Amino acid sequence: MVTELEYKENFFAGTRQDLLDRIETQLKPKRFKHVQRVEATAIELARENGVDVEKASIAGLTHDYAKQRPDEDFIQAIHDYRLNPGLLDYGNAIWHGVVGAELVKRELGITDEDILNAIRHHTTGAVYMTPLEQIVYMADYIEPARDFPGVEEARQITHHDLATGVAFQAKHTLAYLVDKDKPVYPKSIDTYNAWVPEHPGI
Ligand SMILES: [Fe+2]
Ligand SMILES: [Fe+2]
Repeated sequence: MVTELEYKENFFAGTRQDLLDRIETQLKPKRFKHVQRVEATAIELARENGVDVEKASIAGLTHDYAKQRPDEDFIQAIHDYRLNPGLLDYGNAIWHGVVGAELVKRELGITDEDILNAIRHHTTGAVYMTPLEQIVYMADYIEPARDFPGVEEARQITHHDLATGVAFQAKHTLAYLVDKDKPVYPKSIDTYNAWVPEHPGI
């Protein structure tokens, strides 16, 4: 059970309960529950793929840490931390991952780059993703409360082969954005190009 997981590796200076308490102050109850489901799914995928379970727990819990911050906080952070000014053209959907990781680093003291990259890339994916990054990207997509046409297939594919799951999400998310005439962040197209042609027919 997730609640019995003890943090022993010092990726976060405190217990899992301490981390939960910090995150709970940042999120509405509904999203707080979502991040706990993402954590549970990420731990499952970590066990299946031989990935560090503690990292999966921390990355799962913190991936949406900044989701409910006001735009001003992100704009300030882009300036303060000298992030790519091109980020200013986007909004919360992109910021809460890429900029959110910087807030997790500064406010929660989590400095492990694998965990931070998992947060950075959870919305758009990336050309290169470590197994942990793939796990958080997929856990966010298939956690038990997700309900969209194809989610069951996404779950099966992901538990069978993590990288094929990544390709499935990259393809279906891009198709969805195009169908709805929504803007596509260029990095999502890079993710599509890196993952989908290698996994044809998904
Ligand atoms: Fe998110
Ligand atoms: Fe999420």
